[in-house]
Amino acid sequence: MERLICLVIGYAFGLIQTGYLYGKSQHLDIRKYGSGNAGTTNVLRTLGWKAGVITFLGDSFKCIIAVVLVHLIFGKTHADIIQVLAMYTGMGVVLGHNYPFYMNFRGGKGIAVTAGLIASTTNWWITLICVAAFLGVTICTKYVSAGSLTLVVTYMICVIVYGQMGGYHVTGGHLYEIYGIAVLLVISAFYKHKANIVRLMNGTENKLSVGKKS
Ligand code: G3P
Repeated sequence: MERLICLVIGYAFGLIQTGYLYGKSQHLDIRKYGSGNAGTTNVLRTLGWKAGVITFLGDSFKCIIAVVLVHLIFGKTHADIIQVLAMYTGMGVVLGHNYPFYMNFRGGKGIAVTAGLIASTTNWWITLICVAAFLGVTICTKYVSAGSLTLVVTYMICVIVYGQMGGYHVTGGHLYEIYGIAVLLVISAFYKHKANIVRLMNGTENKLSVGKKS
């Protein structure tokens, strides 16, 4: 039951679509521009730096805030599985962000949210490795999508390594629940990036660019 509550709390936070709302404040639907995505990269390419940074911060912090809230609600009563519940919450935020019911289930791709999930559910060195992997691949290739996919795979590997090192204070099957959610996040990211993957293979993917609309 707690897991379901955490998924629902996460989904509710995920519905706060920073990029879409920012676009609306500029009298446009961000999904009608660029890649049609309502996430940071498309806001950056369409509306510029300020809009891109605000979208990234809004989308990553909504996940951090949801995870903090779940810690406040369940931290004492479910201390033994709080790290599992935090993962369910993060997955809920990704679902709400990617599939917002009030936008015909067309939201973002969940990468800024995943950044918030990494920062709020792991430690500083995992966060640093994931940020380095994302920036390294994005800067070298100029493809944010390639950096994003590298980020989620790096995160999944770090979760498993961290778990095997005893970093998660959970017992038995709960550890595999955490691994399972990390794997699901990778599958979800690859699924949402399927058009990007085709373009990457064709050599037609959009390079990183900064728009000037705002
Ligand atoms: O985080 C989304 C990014 O990986 C790709 O965005 O707009 O180029 O599809 P976009």
